[in-house]
Amino acid sequence: MEKIQGNFKNKHIVSIEQFDRRDLEILTNEADRMKELVKRGKGNSHLKHKIMTALFYEPSSRTFGSFVSAMQRLSGGIIPIQGVQFSSVSKGETLEDTVRVFGCFSDIIVLRHPEKGAAEKAARVSYVPVINAGDGPGEHPTQTLLDFYTIKNHFPETENIIVVMAGDLLYGRTIHSLAKLLTHFKTVKQIFVSPEKLRLPQYIKEYLKKAGVVFEEVEDLNYALKKADVLYMTRVQKERFDDINEYHLVKDAYILDDKLMRLAKQKMILMHPLPRINEISPGVDKDSRAVYLKEQMCNGIYIRMALLELILS
Ligand code: NCD
Repeated sequence: MEKIQGNFKNKHIVSIEQFDRRDLEILTNEADRMKELVKRGKGNSHLKHKIMTALFYEPSSRTFGSFVSAMQRLSGGIIPIQGVQFSSVSKGETLEDTVRVFGCFSDIIVLRHPEKGAAEKAARVSYVPVINAGDGPGEHPTQTLLDFYTIKNHFPETENIIVVMAGDLLYGRTIHSLAKLLTHFKTVKQIFVSPEKLRLPQYIKEYLKKAGVVFEEVEDLNYALKKADVLYMTRVQKERFDDINEYHLVKDAYILDDKLMRLAKQKMILMHPLPRINEISPGVDKDSRAVYLKEQMCNGIYIRMALLELILS
């Protein structure tokens, strides 16, 4: 897919690979402005008369909600489509046809789909920009942009830090996008923590190797936790397992509780894309290092506002 190269206008956002450091800079600066607006209880009218279709073939509440909120803060309209099983897609319509139809009704399509590669397929035929809001076990670039924005707020240079990603690294699309994005920061070390069965896919490891970054794969969360400046926990992606028994074997592989948090650095930040199942005990929520329930979530609005504005206005 076409690289951003400083110009977001009318671009599809399919993969985090489209972004370089300058693009991240432009986007996060814009997000800072959006944050100011929202904090003052305001928005702007830059996307008045523009319409966004939120076309969701998989369950979502936060990604869906934050895109809708972002568009409305910019005075745009929305066509919210959740539960595609109730629409004509269940009559057998192809993704390509659906995307063409909603390209006539709106100026941008935000797509979530259970198949890896679906966003790219949609972008190839779409009349309007397509934003990938998660393509099965593939990527979730806008989540990663907000994750990066959160990391940057705590570690402005994003230099010489250790980012630990734990949980379902095989199916976790937020991990795939984040691991790729961090390759732009050569002094950032990535440590991947997972059970043997949920290790990072080979193609992502090849990507990291090619980029020449330092990374490590381990099974021991305690070991990685002590080193982490950023700890990014994820849930085991139940919906991706063919055999539910396999899921039950690994679902509680890691449970981060207060006791474990005592091993972590004082300045560490604890992130999670949510929804959280068992992997972080609720007791950890009040730990000042936990950013997932407020800061990280709110950043999703600012980043998505910034992205919509840069693409559409
Ligand atoms: C993530 C996703 O959909 O991939 N959720 C989200 O968008 N915030 C993570 C997950 O579902 O585990």
